[in-house]
Amino acid sequence: MPTKPDKNGFPHYMLKEIFDQPKGLEDTILPRVSLDPLELRLADQVRISPDELRQVRRINVVASGTSRHAGMAGQYMIQNLMHLPVDVDYASEFEYRNPLIGKGEITIVITQSGETADTTAAQRVAQSKGSRTIAISNVVDSTIAREADGVLYTHAGPEISIASTKAFTAQMTVLFLFAAYLARVRGELDDAALRGWIQELLGLPQKTATVLKSSRQCEKLAERYHDFEDFLFLGRAIHYPIAMDGALKLKEVSYIHAEGYPTGETKHGPNALIDEHLPVVIIATCDRNDPGAVVRYEKNVANIRQFKQQSAKVIALATDGDAEVEAIADHTIFIPQAPELLSPILEIVPLQLFAYYMTVKKGLDVDRPRNLVKSVMLE
Ligand code: BG6
Repeated sequence: MPTKPDKNGFPHYMLKEIFDQPKGLEDTILPRVSLDPLELRLADQVRISPDELRQVRRINVVASGTSRHAGMAGQYMIQNLMHLPVDVDYASEFEYRNPLIGKGEITIVITQSGETADTTAAQRVAQSKGSRTIAISNVVDSTIAREADGVLYTHAGPEISIASTKAFTAQMTVLFLFAAYLARVRGELDDAALRGWIQELLGLPQKTATVLKSSRQCEKLAERYHDFEDFLFLGRAIHYPIAMDGALKLKEVSYIHAEGYPTGETKHGPNALIDEHLPVVIIATCDRNDPGAVVRYEKNVANIRQFKQQSAKVIALATDGDAEVEAIADHTIFIPQAPELLSPILEIVPLQLFAYYMTVKKGLDVDRPRNLVKSVMLE
């Protein structure tokens, strides 16, 4: 039985693993990128020839829990970097929908442990239908990794706490690396764009270290909000999966009911719930270099104003220096400037910290929440 890693002085593995993320991202990115020569080094891991990759007509993503949220962010990354449709499925639902997949497709199976039974079964279904598979796993030589055609390991280090944190940011980073590699092979990413993305990727570990400085602010928010019984997490576009995982983290460890929702959907129902009893956590960052992000930002600001009119408490994630959101939200957590497709990797960190401190405030077992296991080995 492998011995558990040390907590490095942290009171819980969850907090240690949240603070491990700058190193995990560095170890996941550095071996795979180079500015001179300008290249992405994934071919030996993808193990599918460039010719075959150029023929691929669709990508399927299958996973469970937090890993599926990484897959949802990956869908935005792949579909924005190249013209290739991506479907994302719950591994536990995949075979039931009789997926019409086959040759000429790649199925990406994402799993921290590499042993989750639903995801193992989904990979076997995909292969039985003729699809190639690529596993993204944090455990070397795990079942899912051994059975896949290609394997992209996340080098986040051993994850002990049941709630997945550092594997999630590493999974989204690997998905972005794979999307850029595929776009490159398919001639849809030129040198200038690739150079820009590699420079942004190389900046992620330091920006994550900067976001971790919001730890004390997240602890204060937990002191303020640990008695509330319901939360709504909101995000648009690639930020929606982050809202989903922020809600999942809070549910998993603090047993507080929380829902992740696309911000634009609130007016189609959930808005009826929003008042002084339902705090809203909204992702309202903005990449000013991305016209679509600016349009979404304007809508988010309007939403925050409306939620305030309904007496809701609003906790907002905003991009560094954003005085407008800070002026209208009850609490604002600042996120370093980053491109729209990479900003989610930074945005989840304060939501992980918030869930952690809410759980500590409630005196619960942070690393071993009730009724959950690290890897569900039974379907
Ligand atoms: C659950 C864990 O058992 O499985 C979650 O509690 C995790 O944190 C989910 O996201 C999926 O696990 P894996 O290992 O397949 O990513």
